[in-house]
Amino acid sequence: MLFKQKKDLVGIDIGSSSVKLVQLREAKGGYQLVTLGLAKLSAEAIVDNAIMDSQSIIDVVKNLVESLKVKTKNVATSVSGHSVIIRKIQLPIMTEEEMEASIQWEAEQYIPFEISEVNLDFQILGPDSNDASQMDVILVAAKKDFVGDYVSLFKECGFNPQVMDIDCFSVQNVFEANYGIDDEIVALIDMGASSMNVNILKSGMSVFTRDIQVGGSAYNEEIQKRFGLNNEDAEKVKLGGAIDEVSSDDVTEVMNNATETLTQEVQRSIDFFSATSSDEKVQKAYITGGVSLVAMVRESLANRLGVPVEVLDPWRQVSFSEKEFDPEYLQSVGPVFSVAAGLAMRRMGDK
Ligand SMILES: Nc1ncnc2c1ncn2[C@@H]1O[C@H](COP(=O)(O)OP(=O)(O)OP(=O)(O)O)[C@@H](O)[C@H]1O
Ligand SMILES: [Mg+2]
Repeated sequence: MLFKQKKDLVGIDIGSSSVKLVQLREAKGGYQLVTLGLAKLSAEAIVDNAIMDSQSIIDVVKNLVESLKVKTKNVATSVSGHSVIIRKIQLPIMTEEEMEASIQWEAEQYIPFEISEVNLDFQILGPDSNDASQMDVILVAAKKDFVGDYVSLFKECGFNPQVMDIDCFSVQNVFEANYGIDDEIVALIDMGASSMNVNILKSGMSVFTRDIQVGGSAYNEEIQKRFGLNNEDAEKVKLGGAIDEVSSDDVTEVMNNATETLTQEVQRSIDFFSATSSDEKVQKAYITGGVSLVAMVRESLANRLGVPVEVLDPWRQVSFSEKEFDPEYLQSVGPVFSVAAGLAMRRMGDK
């Protein structure tokens, strides 16, 4: 080959509270940060992971892309929520090609949607540990109309959607790129505004995933209720801002209670994994997403799980120019960009 065409991708994560954009360049032993940006979405734009007001999202994405002067037209993006089903299944050992040919048929018994209405994908994990004639496979099904809404949105913004990922696999990607793969059983927990996604890895393979339909907006709801504030002021209070007639002790109490509710939900999912997988226990957890920035979350979860909990640093192996990016800012917002960074590390042709 005389030359390899470099096909750049920009990673765009449309979360329920904001759009995150990351562009990376491959560099020696890792990546270099090229572009980074975030723009808020209105609370009505995305509800239950579904696009409710596409025009407002298109406007936000277009403005963000313009202000960051992004020229790349190829985009990697991801979806999550009820319209996406991820199942670990066992099948007789077969090749990738055989699997490709039979996936539609195999999927029928595991997927609660009409097979004609979903996009299917799979990854063969390897032989099953209990039965050598079987192999473990991760099956992914996403509703076509749901994925189609995201594809059309990006097309309307002038992008070519090249990679359609799942949020939790994108976090797995950014984790592997930054921390490598080892034999430990590790839980990755993306704690966003309206949902939390748990992905448990064993030797770098996803063995359990779960979506929890509650997230950082639980803090806002509790603060609004307790102090009679609107959502905007509640967000301010949550991020540590002062508002007249709201005592900081009361805020701490409300924040602590909401933190316990959230971490209890995560603990439930992880307990469910332990109960259903033969004597396998999570040995370490990494948290990410905006909620991982709430001061008490890490400690609350570590107490509940009884294992070390760390905030995932998506920039661990990413270099950047200090002239262009403020290191302190990058570090302080890192967890918010994990999904987008994982997307930016995808390459065209990746599944
Ligand atoms: N510094 C911070 N301290 C506390 N909370 C924060 C901080 N930064 C962001 N958050 C909260 O994190 C949430 C946003 O996180 P994130 O951007 O990961 O969510 P999202 O991707 O928009 O949502 P989802 O993934 O659920 O669709 C919001 O609830 C926001 O208030
Ligand atoms: Mg998110």
